[in-house]
Amino acid sequence: MKAIETRALTRLFGSLCAVDNLTMAVPCGQVYGFLGPNGAGKTTTLKMLAGLISPSSGTALVAGKEMRPGESSRELRSRVGFLAEDPAFYPWMTAYEALVFTARLHGSSAARAGARAAELLDTVGLSPRAEDRIRGFSRGMRQRLGIALALAGEPDVLLLDEPASALDPIGRKEILDLISSLRGRATILMSSHVLDDVQRVGTWVGILDKGRMVVESPLDDLLHRYATPAFHLEISGDRTQVKSALLSRPWVQGVVEEAGGLRIIASDLQEAQRSIASLLAAEHVSLLEFATVVPTLEDVFLRIVSNNDNADDVRAEQITT
Ligand SMILES: Nc1ncnc2c1ncn2[C@@H]1O[C@H](COP(=O)(O)OP(=O)(O)O)[C@@H](O)[C@H]1O
Ligand SMILES: [Mg+2]
Repeated sequence: MKAIETRALTRLFGSLCAVDNLTMAVPCGQVYGFLGPNGAGKTTTLKMLAGLISPSSGTALVAGKEMRPGESSRELRSRVGFLAEDPAFYPWMTAYEALVFTARLHGSSAARAGARAAELLDTVGLSPRAEDRIRGFSRGMRQRLGIALALAGEPDVLLLDEPASALDPIGRKEILDLISSLRGRATILMSSHVLDDVQRVGTWVGILDKGRMVVESPLDDLLHRYATPAFHLEISGDRTQVKSALLSRPWVQGVVEEAGGLRIIASDLQEAQRSIASLLAAEHVSLLEFATVVPTLEDVFLRIVSNNDNADDVRAEQITT
């Protein structure tokens, strides 16, 4: 069962195609990182999924329901929680008041709304600030409150637009930890242009570029599939000679000079692990450091997104595998 499913979802702004025939599927219970550079069409997609703007064509099913803008039945509102990129609040309200107000909008009785507000403040770690006015809140606190408000209707799907992007490292870690802790409570679709954020909390990844889905897959599979086995090597002595010795071996695909040493891109991981020590010994150099390079989402992203000519190949590859 998919929590979100779009078919050929398209949104034009005049002649600009912000979202271009987007087909995406978010399995239930995942934290789906919706990645893409600025201007890729993430916000436009999330607004369509939240029912805030209309698609020019195509369909979007969210929690089994087709999203239609303008439909604001209580049932629909409570299926989907949305945190905007730059959320607005009533600054004179306290955090508690804002939550009670929103819970009431979702149909809770006054008594139930109070209890719900307290519960949500606890979930997002804002209980100590419950009676403080939002006007004095830091960006991180506003994001946490925004997540609490998005959770007020107990949604099946939580749409978070760049929830951590504008925060400092500590605020960012707090929000990402909070998002992780919500896993299992709702399916989470989180947009970001920050690779590291998605790598930290995501379980699935969809990469959007110029309004089109370039690749969509479980995060681990993606890292595995696009990762080339590589080692980082630090040696004393003449690098040039070691480099040419390495390049003469069939298990070496490439050697790149990088900070403090060499990066060896292996075509045969096992053979590389077996043979590297004897090669260095034969070259009379000492080994200062040897490490397997763990592939990052950044490696994958750069390979896929920055090389636009590749986008169609990658798509084709994805369809055929
Ligand atoms: N309301 C709008 N009117 C005109 N163009 C828009 C509007 N909203 C977004 N766009 C354009 O659509 C493209 C995608 O924008 P957006 O969805 O905000 O991307 P992202 O969130 O990935 O940065 C951009 O080129 C942007 O300028
Ligand atoms: Mg955006």
